[in-house]
Amino acid sequence: MQPLCKQPLSDPGMDSTPAIAFNDKLVLAPLAGLSDRPFRRLCRAFGADFAVSEMISAKGLVYGDRKSRILLAPGPSDKPHWVQLFGSDPEIIRAAAEIALANGANLVDLNMGCPVRKVVKTGAGAALLKDPARAGAIMRALARAPAIPFTVKIRTGWDRSRPVLELFIALAANFGARALTCHPRTATQMFSGRADWLRLLKAARRAPLPIIGSGDLREPDEAVKALQQPGMAAVMLGRGTLGRPWLFRECRALLEGGPGWRPEPGLKLETILKHGKWLRAEYGEKTGLLLYRKHLAWYVRGMPGAAAFRSRLFAIRSFAELNQSLAGVFQG
Ligand SMILES: Cc1cc2nc3c(=O)[nH]c(=O)nc-3n(C[C@H](O)[C@H](O)[C@H](O)COP(=O)(O)O)c2cc1C
Repeated sequence: MQPLCKQPLSDPGMDSTPAIAFNDKLVLAPLAGLSDRPFRRLCRAFGADFAVSEMISAKGLVYGDRKSRILLAPGPSDKPHWVQLFGSDPEIIRAAAEIALANGANLVDLNMGCPVRKVVKTGAGAALLKDPARAGAIMRALARAPAIPFTVKIRTGWDRSRPVLELFIALAANFGARALTCHPRTATQMFSGRADWLRLLKAARRAPLPIIGSGDLREPDEAVKALQQPGMAAVMLGRGTLGRPWLFRECRALLEGGPGWRPEPGLKLETILKHGKWLRAEYGEKTGLLLYRKHLAWYVRGMPGAAAFRSRLFAIRSFAELNQSLAGVFQG
């Protein structure tokens, strides 16, 4: 991990970020606890154009919290390194974004959509959908010279009575955000119902900045169809990639108009073992194993023998034993 440093700011330094084009892009969504360095690397290897970090506390970065610092460090595939911050104080977010840029980030995403209580009660995440003035002040703080390249991620509103999609698109465009991602559910909906793609596409067609869509894109045809809609610059894939990081290659094959692509069982097994190896290298045996088990439960979903494997999973105490048992599932 790189040491955390805060370099003095200068205009040319800030502007050295390469321009990032969003057109026709497949992006790994930020997933707290999941879109870590090993998983981002795996998804990039299967053709994700970008992969956003887990959300990182702006306050944590500014006050030197070790966990936040570890989350911030770029991995080998993080080019560009797109880091998501959450917070509610414009100056703390500005300071955190400066720290992020000085430590390898190329682009900062502002989390204005997380509906989780722990985040919302601090005025961050989706709470900002109820406070557009504060959301605007945060964007203004990043936009002031030397400007920090940023994107915004929202839901359509706090609840159905307070839609803010168009308002936030206008705010983001006004403050020079490079793109806005929307998961078209309200915050109070959490993950229930369906993502309202009609609503998102209607707003995207008229938007003055690139719009990225996120929500319920589980299959390659769903992702490609969304990407081909007018005004949709890119799509983010979240839950669909769990146990299926090769979803990006499946989407890419469809986008290129070929016959489609499905991974062979051998490639799946090789990928899963590689994921385990990277988790162990990143977190060590104990934490690595905990995380590996979580991913394995997704990897074997739908396979014959999966239920028996899953019931054994939590009793297994080493990578070697786990991998052996996993190979058994693949050999049928
Ligand atoms: C486990 C989990 C963690 C998430 N963490 C974040 C996060 O840290 N930041 C964020 O903006 N969205 C987060 N999201 C929302 C996703 O980025 C995405 O917008 C949402 O899940 C809809 O896409 P999907 O249907 O493809 O999963 C999370 C979602 C899940 C399921």
